[in-house]
Amino acid sequence: MNLFLSPSARPPARHRGNHPPAPKNRANTGNSTKPIFLDDGAMLVLRPIDPADVDALIRAFKRMTPEQVRARVFHALSELPEPVARAMCRTDPDEGVALVATDPDGAEIRGEARVHFDPVTQSAELAIAIDPEYTGRGLGRILVENLIEASKAHGALEIWGDTQAGNFAMLRLTRRLGFEHQRKREEAGLVRFSLNLDPACAHECNPDR
Ligand SMILES: CC(C)(COP(=O)(O)OP(=O)(O)OC[C@H]1O[C@@H](n2cnc3c(N)ncnc32)[C@H](O)[C@@H]1OP(=O)(O)O)[C@@H](O)C(=O)NCCC(=O)NCCS
Repeated sequence: MNLFLSPSARPPARHRGNHPPAPKNRANTGNSTKPIFLDDGAMLVLRPIDPADVDALIRAFKRMTPEQVRARVFHALSELPEPVARAMCRTDPDEGVALVATDPDGAEIRGEARVHFDPVTQSAELAIAIDPEYTGRGLGRILVENLIEASKAHGALEIWGDTQAGNFAMLRLTRRLGFEHQRKREEAGLVRFSLNLDPACAHECNPDR
């Protein structure tokens, strides 16, 4: 089932204000619950997605703008179908890791990001969506950093994804984290972002990291 990863698989810095430095966030490789702090100091809770998250995930999807939905699922969709939400809330650790960032009281999901592991290519495909009220505050970066760690812990040799060539937020986010970008020849308008995680060539392959 395509859990809203890229269409090809399975079938200027924003204002941050003068906030004091946020506490350092520790990595979450997909099996713990921990507080995280956004660039403006706001606290959320990071944890693996849970089968009980179905309704909150549907609500979170509803809050996304049409542009965000298109960026996330590559077509228009007014709401997340419940069977898809159910499937997205059940992850097999051999197949992937899905993390959510919630309000401190757990009521609403403010960010959701996942990797799907491909045992053949030993790679992890990344997808992410952030609540529009929470974009530009470092949440995307925190989620991707955690999924990089989760992918390494799983033994993935690469983490990658596809995004629209006009998705400047995703391009900037991935570039800042050391991903390479490559325009896809076979699918015009898409850019493949990828980061080599192979410990054997960690520095040589990603000199910026
Ligand atoms: C792309 C997305 C995940 C970014 O999340 P985010 O929480 O806003 O990202 P961050 O706040 O961590 O910002 C990361 C970088 O992107 C930049 N950025 C954020 N929004 C931006 C925008 N609209 N335009 C340009 N840059 C932007 C930030 O300034 C930051 O760069 P910096 O470190 O150089 O300052 C979010 O906008 C989103 O959910 N988009 C819709 C879904 C999507 O595009 N998913 C990706 C394909 S699966």
